[in-house]
Amino acid sequence: MTSLADIRSTFLDFFARNGHEVVSSSPLVPRNDPTLMFTNSGMVQFKNVFTGLESRPYKRATTAQKCVRAGGKHNDLDNVGYTARHHTFFEMLGNFSFGDYFKENAIPFAWELLTKDFGIDGSRLLVTVYHTDDDAANIWKKVAGLSDDRIIRIPTNDNFWMMGPTGPCGPCTEIFYDHGPSVWGGPPGSADQDGDRFIEIWNLVFMQFEQFEDGSRQGLPRPSIDTGMGLERIGALLQGKHDNYDTDLMRALIEASAHATHSDPDGPGKIHHRVIADHLRSTSFLIADGVMPSNEGRGYVLRRIMRRAMRHAAMLGAKDPVMHRLVPALVQQMGAAYPELSRGQALITDTLKREETKFRETLDRGLRLLDDELARLPEGADLPGDAAFRLYGTYGFPLDLTQDALREKGRSVDVAGFEAAMNEEKARARASWAGSGEAKDAAVWFDLAETFGATEFLGYDTEKAEAQVLAIVENGQSVEAVDGPGSAWIVVNQTPFYAESGGQVADQGYLRRLNDHDSVATISDVQKFADGRLFAHRVTLDTGRLAVGDAVGLEVDHGRRSAIRANHSATHLLNEALRLALGEHVAQRGSLNAPDRLRFDFSHGQALTSDELAQVEGEVNSYIRQNGPVETRVMTPDDARDLGAQALFGEKYGDEVRVVSMGTRDGSGKGSEGRTYSLELCGGTHVQRLGDIGAFVVLSDSASSAGVRRVEALTGQAALDHLRARERALQEVAGLLKAPLSEVGARVKSLMDERRSLQNEVAQLRRERALGGPAREAQPSREVGGVPFRAQVLSGVTGKDLPALIDGMKAEMGSGAVLLIAEDQGKAAVAAGVTPDLAPKLSAVDILRAAVAELGGKGGGGRPDLAQGGAASAANAEAAIKAAEAVIEGVLA
Ligand code: ALA
Repeated sequence: MTSLADIRSTFLDFFARNGHEVVSSSPLVPRNDPTLMFTNSGMVQFKNVFTGLESRPYKRATTAQKCVRAGGKHNDLDNVGYTARHHTFFEMLGNFSFGDYFKENAIPFAWELLTKDFGIDGSRLLVTVYHTDDDAANIWKKVAGLSDDRIIRIPTNDNFWMMGPTGPCGPCTEIFYDHGPSVWGGPPGSADQDGDRFIEIWNLVFMQFEQFEDGSRQGLPRPSIDTGMGLERIGALLQGKHDNYDTDLMRALIEASAHATHSDPDGPGKIHHRVIADHLRSTSFLIADGVMPSNEGRGYVLRRIMRRAMRHAAMLGAKDPVMHRLVPALVQQMGAAYPELSRGQALITDTLKREETKFRETLDRGLRLLDDELARLPEGADLPGDAAFRLYGTYGFPLDLTQDALREKGRSVDVAGFEAAMNEEKARARASWAGSGEAKDAAVWFDLAETFGATEFLGYDTEKAEAQVLAIVENGQSVEAVDGPGSAWIVVNQTPFYAESGGQVADQGYLRRLNDHDSVATISDVQKFADGRLFAHRVTLDTGRLAVGDAVGLEVDHGRRSAIRANHSATHLLNEALRLALGEHVAQRGSLNAPDRLRFDFSHGQALTSDELAQVEGEVNSYIRQNGPVETRVMTPDDARDLGAQALFGEKYGDEVRVVSMGTRDGSGKGSEGRTYSLELCGGTHVQRLGDIGAFVVLSDSASSAGVRRVEALTGQAALDHLRARERALQEVAGLLKAPLSEVGARVKSLMDERRSLQNEVAQLRRERALGGPAREAQPSREVGGVPFRAQVLSGVTGKDLPALIDGMKAEMGSGAVLLIAEDQGKAAVAAGVTPDLAPKLSAVDILRAAVAELGGKGGGGRPDLAQGGAASAANAEAAIKAAEAVIEGVLA
């Protein structure tokens, strides 16, 4: 039997052989479309290539594209399980030409692949064409030899394909397989076309136009090709099955479900297994592409799919969570073609398990409530909207889950009543926050959050995305547009920009209006409002206009974001390294992760020694070199704590937290070899592998507040630049010293010793010169008040030299008093001294003050044996000396 994996590769190989680039599937969350909930066909990733907005290095491509059709316009959720061909997740095989070949090649390619490589009997095939498309009909006739009755002209939009209300579009031709008269159904276009006899297997779209919002249509730069073939359908056909769920891949998942629930895959629980198999694929792939269950937007669609599957698992009698146990079977089937599935296996498993555990707590009670409500109703009546809303609000039953449960009983829900109850609840919530005394302009943000729901953050996975402008806020008011030059806060439906939080600064970058390359605006800041539900972007336009409803391209400054990421991941390593080096008391008290540096505050009582700093720096660098992957999982705060994750003191966490793990212990630290090195609760953005940090250098350790230290550090290029600058400075010193780097320290030390001894020598010489030279006679002293007194005016010495001179003179005199006045750069420095035997009676301070006063100065002071002061000039030195003498005489007389 040809497996689905073989069919996938046969398809891709065929087109590769025919000059097509094999391109990977794009993520399920479209990066290039602001309005699409999920990627729903192969052409989505090429939308801008068709319109000429984007160019690629190839003109032909082929893909196996993962698609989800659940929520939004294409919603197949309700039918899954009950029909042979509905899926929420499927793979679309496609070939694309971007202005290269057109119908004349697309049709022969399709015919050749189907009839030769896949070996399908051509006489079983028939096609539809758009009713006016004679070209396509003629090519079919020529290439496939189809008779007129097997080329059916369809006048409706069934044969004009559009991806949505806007975008590239064109007429199409669809290829059908006839299962023969034993199956009921009529050919396309007939009254019985919905039967199962004629099954569409491939759609070839002749992309020719671009449709705009105002309904107008313009020709594409060049006619192009977009085709789509459901892998599950072609698989069923080639495996001789009528039902997509009987193909090898789906069957393996169904059997895994049967095994996990100890039930018969084909017994009465058959529908449940089909629902579980399908939903396992959509939920796992969505989680792998970054969608997390929530109560809004994409996350809510995911939650609805999960809960639907979980209810069906419960109906099989399973007492414990089931879905997460099926992940290995899925990875085994699809992990090779979609490596993101293997990479995300832990996250997928955790998320499914957590969600199912939580949902199980209320599922039974909710179902009982549902039964009670139904028992009270007249036979066949709809379930009232408020009952359905109670199930939603209290038991977490999405509306479609309630509908699904009722469907089995042939009942339905009053949907209008449900929505009315929902709106009432919203009005109540709004009234309660309006009076809660929030900041003045907060009301506008809460209103916007209420209207539009939370902003979806795509920035864990991408730095670029398209989005729609939902609101513009200027001076606390919601406005329709902002004109350049000007700035405003804008809110979009989805964004790759990180809003400042958890110590990580906001992203910066660019915004451009789509289809209008000239209007580029900058985004300088991003903040969270309305309890973190809305991300507001601070946008500045030089020219042009940005209005609510505009589709925009958002692009994060990549270099800046990479640097922030490196710093943030390094902060986690630093946190752990500090704990290991200093002790378990180290706990984070704050942090800053900016593009140019990182800062980490933590509890610790004293400065780090240089050995401790070196140990920490070395350890962080060793984990960078280990280059392990950085992994993120989402779990409840309790589970995270059980795992031993570091949480931030005093931080409030929601129901679910992201846990970031990095590094594997190398065994040098406390016998825990092989265990995860760093495990932290964190909502920030991180490097993919630790090697991306590049390098780590500590700049400083300082006191931040009592008992809290602050380490600042650099990573990556900034760390290298810093080391380079240090090196350059050192080189300069070495150059000046004419010494090799290794000897710089010793040379500087010896220079400093030399300098110190020269300074001493100079001071000594200056003193000697001031006093008249080394060979001078001892200066005569006079008797004043009965004691020897020496007074002298000096030049060439500074105030600093005076105490030593005074000491020298006192020693020479044995007993007496001294007054020195030094003329130093036009000013006078004055010092007075009294030998110890006289100091109890005669104070140097009094002598000094008298002299200083005569010189026009003020104050001065010191001890009774030595006092110092200064004045503006030494011009009155004679009078000053006289005044000093008068003091001595006055005291000693
Ligand atoms: N884009 C086309 C489809 O989805 C091929 O059917």
